Amino acid sequence: MTSQIRFLICPPHYYDVDYVINPWMEGNIHKSSQERAVEQWDKLHHILKEHAIVDIVPPQKGWPDMVFTANAGLVLGKTVVLSRFLHKERQGEEPYFNQWFEENGYTVHELPKDLPFEGAGDALLDREGRWLWAGYGFRTELDSHPYLAKWLDIEVLSLRLIDERFYHLDTCFCPLANGYLLYYPPAFDSYSNRLIEMRVSQEKRIAITEADAVNFACNAVNIESIVVMNKASEPLKARLAEVGFRVIETPLTEFLKAGGAAKCLTLRVTEPVREELHANVSVESRVFNLEGHLLDSGLINRALDLIVDNGGSFQVLNFSLGEQRQSTSAAKVKVSAPSHEVMESIISHLIDLGAVDLPQDERDAKLEPVTQAGVAPDDFYVSTIYPTEVRINGEWVKVENQRMDGAIAITRTSKRIVAQCKLLRDVEVGEEVVVDVLGIRTVRKTESRERRNAEEFSFMSSGVSSERRVELVVEQVAWELRKIRDGGGKVVVTAGPVVIHTGGGEHLAQLIREGYVQALLGGNAIAIHDIEQAIMGTSLGVDMKRGVAVRGGHRHHLKVINTIRRYGSIAKAVEAGIIESGVMYECVSNGVPFSLAGSIRDDGPLPDTEMNLIKAQTEYARLLKGADMILMLSSMLHSIGVGNMTPAGVKMVCVDINPAVVTKLSDRGSIESVGVVTDVGLFLSLLLQQLQKLTSPYTAKVS
Ligand code: ARG
Repeated sequence: MTSQIRFLICPPHYYDVDYVINPWMEGNIHKSSQERAVEQWDKLHHILKEHAIVDIVPPQKGWPDMVFTANAGLVLGKTVVLSRFLHKERQGEEPYFNQWFEENGYTVHELPKDLPFEGAGDALLDREGRWLWAGYGFRTELDSHPYLAKWLDIEVLSLRLIDERFYHLDTCFCPLANGYLLYYPPAFDSYSNRLIEMRVSQEKRIAITEADAVNFACNAVNIESIVVMNKASEPLKARLAEVGFRVIETPLTEFLKAGGAAKCLTLRVTEPVREELHANVSVESRVFNLEGHLLDSGLINRALDLIVDNGGSFQVLNFSLGEQRQSTSAAKVKVSAPSHEVMESIISHLIDLGAVDLPQDERDAKLEPVTQAGVAPDDFYVSTIYPTEVRINGEWVKVENQRMDGAIAITRTSKRIVAQCKLLRDVEVGEEVVVDVLGIRTVRKTESRERRNAEEFSFMSSGVSSERRVELVVEQVAWELRKIRDGGGKVVVTAGPVVIHTGGGEHLAQLIREGYVQALLGGNAIAIHDIEQAIMGTSLGVDMKRGVAVRGGHRHHLKVINTIRRYGSIAKAVEAGIIESGVMYECVSNGVPFSLAGSIRDDGPLPDTEMNLIKAQTEYARLLKGADMILMLSSMLHSIGVGNMTPAGVKMVCVDINPAVVTKLSDRGSIESVGVVTDVGLFLSLLLQQLQKLTSPYTAKVS
């Protein structure tokens, strides 16, 4: 024995794999050998005794995992925070450990019921005692960390575990003497890795490979310069030797079957207190109210999932369930995050779902001045598609020009405060920009089951076959188109050249002619191919009637570009009688405005194509203003561009043969967008048939 360090261990008389509460136990029920377990444990015991003092807690029948004393609690000085096991399979160990601590003169703190914390398995002191590393994500709840800071009067650094094989911090993280750290970085999320890198300098970090990690090399007991572990690769041993550590390997394979090894089998019960240090914890909490059809619409699940998925934790402080089908529910949720940065990302998502502060916690939005034109302050709040309000001087101000991916710029006149979404490039010196996530709320329509199923535009749910789905979308879109046209509303179409190649040109032209389209957005290509078809009967050189390539046809589109350039614009070519049919022809003849946005691959371009993309974006935005519905026809580029400019509440229909495009666009978390994966030519032809059905009795038939 060389030191005063003490360890608590528990003999494996009753050890077995009896149940599955971690991935290591799977397939191992009753597969460990009692004899070998005892033999391995004795060896470990022997090694420990050579280097430290060992205390024994009596094992208890029926509690097979009690051998893993690391999970008894967390000790600092004479204070203990007793574990609260997540799984009932281990909760019965708590009183026995408690008894041992009390009998040995420790002051024991117990966490509130249902707030899991698994002791030194998930909380590791820096070996210099400067701070406590605390894990969360699987067994321990983030909300337990502030208690650790308070009771142990120490700084707590929260680390989020993300690989279930490394469910306890001590399975992938091992602070060593002299400030060294042995760890397996992929077991942690990126914030946690950053935190580790900020605290432990590069030379002191020893990152191990996955092969060593699955041999539980991090689950090591460090006593001064020795490191006891199940197994280590030669390179790892060499690396540790380089910095003055000697590895003692001792096989613990029987315990690996339960998901534990050297460190798990021990609890260091002498941890000196550094008097000069004090409590500090960066865990932040904020309480929110969420109201609506929380259960019916799945809103509460979405909210809670996103908190956890983004590295936070929650407590539902209150939930009042609406009783009638039409009544709304209200939830009061406390959100915790390991840092302000993580909190901001969680809150910005919650704001999108309509979460609001408690009335007494309402704050004004935080504003920072723009100091350089076209550049927002660093921490600017990124706008979303949802109608947003910001609180300024105690008043909620509605944000104008709602769109996503902008900043919220504030200008004050003597009479009023104006808040508007602006692209970063448009913010001006003299304006202020909303930063952080205070004093911001979105106003969301209450989604109810009824609305979702009937009235609203998301009649599509899984469960519908793709063929039936196309028919349903067509029926619904035809209905909407007719309603919008008759009500003097606005439909904007974005279309790619595929519309022409798939034979949809004539149908789109007809929609425009019959007054269903109020603006057309596209690029150079759709116009060229449409005009090529009008003038030469081909689309990219393919005869559209017969479906075969025409000799020399691959040059047709260039000839068309040349012709239009000669006339100066599409409109002038129409006037001159050069173009007599097609999509562009109908736009010009019916006074439907269009905007063609250029790109790097454009041939020509046509004189109408706007090659200044900033101007093109502005023009798109202008034409989109006031749209009731947007039909996105097979153009990923222009459709996504349009999606970014459009606030929630505008119905969007995205038709594309590529499911990825459809998913990207219809997945706006908004119930108004619907996607359909199909051939766009076919879609348009079905749409016209359906419109005919809806309108024919009233249309005078001229034969
Ligand atoms: N079977 C035990 C459990 O899942 C193993 C505990 C390992 N202990 C540790 N500190 N990592 O709880």
